[in-house]
Amino acid sequence: MSDSSSYLSQAGDRHFDGLADKFAASLYGGLRGELRLALLDRLLPEMLELHAQPVLEVGGGLGQLAGWLADRGHPVTLTEPAAEMLARARRSLEGRAVTCRQAPLQDLPSQVPGPWPLVSCHAVLEWLADPRAALATLAGLLAPGGQLSLMVFNRDALRLSNVVKGNLDKALADRLEGQGRRKRLTPISPLTHRQITGWADEQGLEVAAVAGLRVFHDYLQRPPEDEAQREALLELEWRYSRVDPHWRLGRYLLYTLIRPEEPAS
Ligand SMILES: C[S@@+](CC[C@H](N)C(=O)[O-])C[C@H]1O[C@@H](n2cnc3c(N)ncnc32)[C@H](O)[C@@H]1O
Repeated sequence: MSDSSSYLSQAGDRHFDGLADKFAASLYGGLRGELRLALLDRLLPEMLELHAQPVLEVGGGLGQLAGWLADRGHPVTLTEPAAEMLARARRSLEGRAVTCRQAPLQDLPSQVPGPWPLVSCHAVLEWLADPRAALATLAGLLAPGGQLSLMVFNRDALRLSNVVKGNLDKALADRLEGQGRRKRLTPISPLTHRQITGWADEQGLEVAAVAGLRVFHDYLQRPPEDEAQREALLELEWRYSRVDPHWRLGRYLLYTLIRPEEPAS
């Protein structure tokens, strides 16, 4: 395939067909994935009210978050458009209370309308052509009082990391987004905190909590050399994940957005 359009869905999104191996190896096969899962394990119970309520997991990828939720007693509906990602998720989730469905986010209002007390959507919006419309769709799936656990790739952190790597012209031109070509894992729609809070506001969602993931890891001059250093890095990432200004430059921003209860009539 020669042009980027061949890799994008009709809606212009980058479904991860053809990317499962690379994604599994380059993210979850290394320290970045280890940190992500360890931080989510600590942050989610702090940032969400979790009481074994049903969860709609959107763009569930390889199924790690669905597995984490199922292990805590939540019945999970995992949705994912890419067949090969879904096949891997199904395999790794065998025996757990997870129902898997092949569907893009845009089809969820007709396929699994809910309303849901808890929706999770991690690291998906940045792969979509229209993340603002996607957030509106997610908001529409929430029950009154429902929580959305939203994680997005942070455009501001991407700029910093490009400058640190010496990609000065790219940073000056603010040409930070990927094109969705071939097997590139640079998101096509990196997002800012300002965009998320603005779009949440448009949908009447309240920002109940925010954190940054990987606030230090990407700027290390030397990778941790042993388990003790990996542990120290995890402790630093954890300690500053919700501290201003550090969270603002996390590679990912994690939000709890809440749909307010409807006023009693
Ligand atoms: C970076 S992966 C994240 C997977 C998983 N949520 C995680 O955090 O590991 C992005 C996922 O979004 C999915 N995706 C792309 N376009 C989508 C869409 N329109 N609706 C739902 N998921 C989509 C991809 O197929 C891929 O599995």
